[in-house]
Amino acid sequence: MAFIDNSEIEKIRAKADIATIISSLGVDVIPAGKDYKCVCPFHDDHSPSLNISISKQIFKCFACGAGGNVFNFVSKYENVTFPEAVKIVADKIGYNLSVSNSIKSEDKHKLEHEIFNLACMFYQNNLNTSSGVIAKKYLKERNIDDKIINEFKIGLASDNKNDLFTLLTKKGYKIDLLEDLGLINIINDRAYDFFVGRITFPLDDINGNIVGFSSRIYRGEKDTSKYINTKETPIYIKGNNLFNYSKAKVAAKKEKNLIIVEGQMDAIRVYSSGIENVVALGGTALTQNQIKLIKNLNCKVILCLDADEAGEKATLINGDLLVKENIAVQVIRLSDYKDPDEYIINKGIDAFADNIKNPIDYLEFKIKVEEHNININNTEELATFINKVVIDISKLKDPIQKELTLNKVSSKYNISLDILKNKLENIKVENEVAKEVFSPQIKNNKKLTGLDIAIRKVLYYMMCDNKYIKKYQSKIGFFENKEYRNIANEIVYFQEKHGIISIADFISYITPNQDLYQIVLDIMDANDNDLNELEFDNYVEVINQKSNEIKIKLLKEEIKKELDLNKKKELLEEITKIKRGSVINENN
Ligand code: GTP
Ligand code: MN
Repeated sequence: MAFIDNSEIEKIRAKADIATIISSLGVDVIPAGKDYKCVCPFHDDHSPSLNISISKQIFKCFACGAGGNVFNFVSKYENVTFPEAVKIVADKIGYNLSVSNSIKSEDKHKLEHEIFNLACMFYQNNLNTSSGVIAKKYLKERNIDDKIINEFKIGLASDNKNDLFTLLTKKGYKIDLLEDLGLINIINDRAYDFFVGRITFPLDDINGNIVGFSSRIYRGEKDTSKYINTKETPIYIKGNNLFNYSKAKVAAKKEKNLIIVEGQMDAIRVYSSGIENVVALGGTALTQNQIKLIKNLNCKVILCLDADEAGEKATLINGDLLVKENIAVQVIRLSDYKDPDEYIINKGIDAFADNIKNPIDYLEFKIKVEEHNININNTEELATFINKVVIDISKLKDPIQKELTLNKVSSKYNISLDILKNKLENIKVENEVAKEVFSPQIKNNKKLTGLDIAIRKVLYYMMCDNKYIKKYQSKIGFFENKEYRNIANEIVYFQEKHGIISIADFISYITPNQDLYQIVLDIMDANDNDLNELEFDNYVEVINQKSNEIKIKLLKEEIKKELDLNKKKELLEEITKIKRGSVINENN
């Protein structure tokens, strides 16, 4: 945050109209009175729930609660940090961020990326030398042509045991760092390259920076793993990356659809054949962080894993993980060939694309698989199975899909639709009760009291107009609650510094403090009325009265405990004073 000056952030914000910027990201914005609205890209939205206020230059979604100013939108939409979002917006409006302030200087891992880029170029070059002839032939036999080799920066770690080490240390990079990055091994005080005699594939982080390598044998070696990847390092955390994610994310957002395959060769094949919204799992189940990355794309998922039994199992495991996170999942099971790579090589990309156009819903797939494991003639087994299926159906979000799947189950197992619907209804009630018990309020963790609401109203007024900041200072001056007090202090500070308050700029300012930012968003979410001075005064009254009640209660407790009669009297007088003060206030 500190790398871009606040005054510069404000200048950019003032020049960048929020609706124009949101629309420039490819989101359809629709005029609504003097404001705009759009389908919210941050949750599975069907009607336009996200409002864009032109006068306030902020957005908020009434359904999921997302909100903020233009930078918060870009940051969330493009999955980048706040300063990166400022940079993106600056570029869009042609604002020249001064070089010293540029995001590049904030690249904490600049050195590491530099080293990986060098290593990658070195490997790429090896492939074109005489030592790369066999590897090149292997790739050609696998239908990996030069275009794909260049696109995916495929290279070769030669058979020499310390080529890369020699190159990088000659350039002055420290041995310890190279070891930390997983590029070299130190054995008995001697350095060896980590990758030897293997075809290399760079691994990108979500922004497309190289952070490691995958490598494959190419001469049918029997005594070693087919693939070896960079070990976990501070910048390469396997569970935080998905192979090809940085390349796939734009297309996935556009297509509202992400294809997940098992092997990286599959992802390379699908992508280079023109279907770009594809990532590879790399032989493991999805981690929570990977699911978060997928969620950020706000799209559905098509699982297209290997055709064998292991692929079927992996489909169930990953499908369940995704469904649990409310991601819509569909499935393709390829036949005739073992994975998408071989399928496309043999049948062509059009045949594969036909599959993509006709996936089956995950639940249907799951039912089909699990049905194999039961004896349909055993009524008890069948009943247990169908009950389980109905529970799964109850988790579907789309009512049409729910109805269709229920119909299918009804006709398939010859059970009346009414009975199934009845069962579904029961499950719904059970779920709601469970929700009530375990999480009474999903959006706001705690229930707001009357006092909370009054304070939040006052803060809202303060964010809208200088006049109410002055009124707060003279009539309230102080909130007992720490968070509210901090927000009020920040508003006062912001106003003193700028002479004027603007909600959109105040949001930029408060964003680094995530706790306060969230409360500010909640406040924006709950309030958008026109300002009315009488209403404000009423809230001030409520707050002062409540705070007096609390003070009196505390004093009374003290009086009870106090033994000294004189002190008791003093405390009593204090209570009277407070009571009188509030009466005077009331009469004013
Ligand atoms: P190719 O044989 O090159 O076509 O690979 P594939 O993509 O068909 O691989 P496979 O289906 O055998 O495995 C799927 C993924 O699991 C691969 O892309 C790798 O990421 C990973 N994998 C496979 N074998 C190994 C291994 O020996 N070690 C490690 N670490 N990963 C492996
Ligand atoms: Mn394969």
